[in-house]
Amino acid sequence: DAVELGTYRHYMQKEIFEQPQALGNTLEMIAGGNTISPQVFGAHAGEILGATRRVLIIACGTSFHAGLVARYWLESIAGIPCVVEIASEYRYRESVPDADTLVVVISQSGETADTLAALKHAKSLGMGKTLAICNVPESAIVRETALRFITRAGPEIGVASTKAFTTQLAALAMLTLSLAKLNGRLNDEDEARYLTALRHLPVAVGKVLELEPQIEQWAQRFASKQHALFLGRGRHWPIAMEGALKLKEISYIHAESYAAGELKHGPLALVDKDMPVIAVAPADELLEKLKSNLQEVRARGGELYVFADAGSAIEESEGVHILHMPEHYGMLSPVLHVIPLQLLSYHAALVKGTDVDKPRNLAKSVTVE
Ligand code: G6P
Repeated sequence: DAVELGTYRHYMQKEIFEQPQALGNTLEMIAGGNTISPQVFGAHAGEILGATRRVLIIACGTSFHAGLVARYWLESIAGIPCVVEIASEYRYRESVPDADTLVVVISQSGETADTLAALKHAKSLGMGKTLAICNVPESAIVRETALRFITRAGPEIGVASTKAFTTQLAALAMLTLSLAKLNGRLNDEDEARYLTALRHLPVAVGKVLELEPQIEQWAQRFASKQHALFLGRGRHWPIAMEGALKLKEISYIHAESYAAGELKHGPLALVDKDMPVIAVAPADELLEKLKSNLQEVRARGGELYVFADAGSAIEESEGVHILHMPEHYGMLSPVLHVIPLQLLSYHAALVKGTDVDKPRNLAKSVTVE
C-alpha cells in the first residue's frame, strides 16, 4: 500500500490529485479533431442516440449527482428532456415505460446492486436502449447494456468517490454533445468550442488543485462544527449536494445541501453563527440571484465560505470568506467547482482524525441491497 500511495497520505488525496490525468485519459477519444462521433459510446451508438427523444438517468450516491449535472446539460444544450432517478427508488416504483427513452446508468464500480436491479427492471419494461457509464470494463452493469462508455479514472480505492465523479462528468458532457449534434442543436463552431474546453479540463483542474493551502485553512475552522449548509443554483446545485455528501461521508459533520432559492422556504431558520454556509458561486447567469441569497445568510449572522470564480465580484468582509477559482468555465464549470469541495472534506476529515479511506459504516461498492 505504502508504495502505491507514493507521497500521499491517503488514497482519497491521491485520487483527488490524479484527476487531471484521469480526465486526460478519459478524454483521449476526442484528443484530435473538432468533431465528436457517437462511436465513442459503442458500434451501434449512432442509431440509438440518433433516435433518442428522452433520457432517463439512474444511479446511486456520487454517480447520481453526476446524473443531476447532466440533466442541466442535456436539456439546455441537446434540447432533450431528462429525468434522473435514484436507483433504489426507480426499481420499486410503478413508472411509465417508454421504449424510445435512452436509459443511462452511471456507476463507478458497475456492481452496485440497486443500479443493476434498476437497469434490469427498465429492460423488463421494454426499455432496451441502454447505456452504461462505468469505470470497470467487465462489470455486471456493463454486460447488461447495449452501449457503454468506460471512464478511465483508474482504480478508485477511497470509499468517497472523487476522480470517478469528474470522469463521469466528462463522459456525460460528451454524451450531451453527441445528442446535441444528432438533434441538430450544435453548429460546428460551438462543437469545436466545447471540445476545446473539454480538452483543456486537465489543465484547468490542475490549477484548481493549487488552491489546496487556502482550503486547508478553511478546513481547520470547519472541523469543530456540528453542521454545515451547502448552497448552489442551476447546474451547480448538484455540486453543492456532492460537497455535502463528501463532508458527511468522511468527516461525519452533518451537512445539507439546498438549491439556494429554497433557502427562504425552510433552511434559513437554521442559520446562525454556528452554521457555516458554503456557497458554490460561479460567475454565471444566476450569480446575482445567488448573491441576494448570500445576503440573507449574512443578515442572520451565518458565516459564509464562498467558492467564487474570478470575475464574481463578491468581496471579503466580516463573516464572508472568499476563495477565488482561477477562471469561469462555462458549461463545464461543475467539473472545476467540485474539486475544492473534495479538498475541503478531505482536510476537515484529517483535522478530525477519521479513517478517510474507509469511513465508518460505508462500503466502496454496495453489492447487496
Ligand atoms: C457507495 C460508495 C459511493 C458511490 C455509491 C455508488 O455508496 O460509497 O462513493 O457513489 O456507492 O457507487 P457506484 O459504484 O455505483 O458509482
